[in-house]
Amino acid sequence: MPEPSDSTDADLEAAGAAASPPSPAAEPPAPAVFTFPNRVLFGAGARRSLAAELERLGVARPLLVTDPGLVACGLAGEVAGLVDSAAIFSGVHANPTEDDVLRGLECYGEARCDGLIGLGGGSAIDAAKAIRLLATHPGRLADYDLTAGGSARITADLPPMAALPTTAGTGTEAGRGTLIQLPQTGRKTIALSPHLLPSVAICDPELTLGLPPGLTAATGMDALSHCVESYLSTTVHPICDGIAVEGLRYVFRGLEEAVRDGSNLGARSAMMTGALLGGISFHKGLGVVHSLSHALGGEGRAHHGALNAILLPHALRFNRPAAEPRIAELATRVGLGRGGDEAGHLITLVQLALASLPLPRRLGDLEADGLERRRIPHYARLAMLDHCHRTNPRPCTLADMEGLLDRAW
Ligand SMILES: [Fe+2]
Repeated sequence: MPEPSDSTDADLEAAGAAASPPSPAAEPPAPAVFTFPNRVLFGAGARRSLAAELERLGVARPLLVTDPGLVACGLAGEVAGLVDSAAIFSGVHANPTEDDVLRGLECYGEARCDGLIGLGGGSAIDAAKAIRLLATHPGRLADYDLTAGGSARITADLPPMAALPTTAGTGTEAGRGTLIQLPQTGRKTIALSPHLLPSVAICDPELTLGLPPGLTAATGMDALSHCVESYLSTTVHPICDGIAVEGLRYVFRGLEEAVRDGSNLGARSAMMTGALLGGISFHKGLGVVHSLSHALGGEGRAHHGALNAILLPHALRFNRPAAEPRIAELATRVGLGRGGDEAGHLITLVQLALASLPLPRRLGDLEADGLERRRIPHYARLAMLDHCHRTNPRPCTLADMEGLLDRAW
C-alpha cells in the first residue's frame, strides 16, 4: 500500500478546520435539520419484502452491492435469490475506497441496472450509496465532499436503492451520508445529502444471526457511540435527542447478550433497533470520537466500531468539563441517575462495557492493522479535517487530537 501523504496546514485552512477553531459563542452553530421521508421496514423476516419493495420503486434490474464475506457465507446468494434478476458486485473492502466504488459503477453500467441493493455492514451500504450517486452525477466522489460544499451538488436524480444491514452498528441504512476513502483527499471523505437516504431500509435482525462475537461487539459499540455522540453534539434537535436516548437503551439491553449468544433473536432485534435509532439520531451531528476513528480507519484495516469503542471513554473524559450537565442528563434518561455523579456513572459504564467485550482495549493493540504510534501527528491532522468534531461539545485543537490519541494508545 502506498505511504499516505501527510496533510498540510493549507489543507486544514482550506477545510475551515484551523488548529484553533472559533468559540461556539462567536459563531452559533447552524440549526440541525431532520429530514426523514423514506420507508423503514423492521422485523424478523422483513427481507422477504425485498422484491415487492423493488417493484414498488420500479426497479427491474438491481445491482446487489456486497462484500466477499457475505458471498462466502451464502447470505448474498440468499438475498439475491429473493429477486428475479439481480446482478452482484461483491468487491467492497472494509473501509471502502473510491476504487471499489468505480468498479461497482462499471458493473452497474455493464449489467444495465436501474437500481441498487446495499447488503452488508456500513462498508457495503456506503459503497452502494456512492455507486448510486455516481450513476447519475458527473465527476468523482471528491466533487461531492461535504467539507468542500459538495452537498449542494447532490440532487434528487438518483436511482432507487434498498439497504439491508447485516450488522447492527453503522445505522447507514437510515443515514444521509456515504463515507469513502478517497485518493484526492487522502482521507475518509463524506458525501452528505438527504437525497442519499436509501429509498427503503429493510432491517431484518435474522440477517445478523451469523455475525461472530467480535464483530457483534465492535459494531454494537459503533451504535452506542452514535447515540452518545449525537446526544452530546452542539446542535439542538429534540427529536434526535429522544431517538438517541431510546437507541442507547436498546443497545444497553441487547449488546452483552447478542455477543454472548448470537442466536438470541431478541438480543439481535434490540441491537438492530439501537443501530437504526443511532443512525437516525446522528442526523444532528457526531463528535470527536468519529473524527478520530475516521482518520485512523482510513489509514489501516482497523474496524470503525472497535476504534470508537477504544476512543469513547477518553473522549467522554475530555468532553466532561464542557458537557457535564448533558452527560449527566443522558445518564439519567437511560436510568443511571444515582448518587449525584451521573456523568461519572455513564463514563464508568462505557469503560466497563469495553472491558467486558471481546475487543481490543487500546489503539496500540491495533498496530497489526496498520496503525503506528509515530504517526499520531498525521492522524491528528486528518481528524481536524473531518467534519464530525465541528459539533463536539468541547472545541478540539490539533493538540487535543494528539493528546486523545496518545492517551488511547
Ligand atoms: Fe460510526
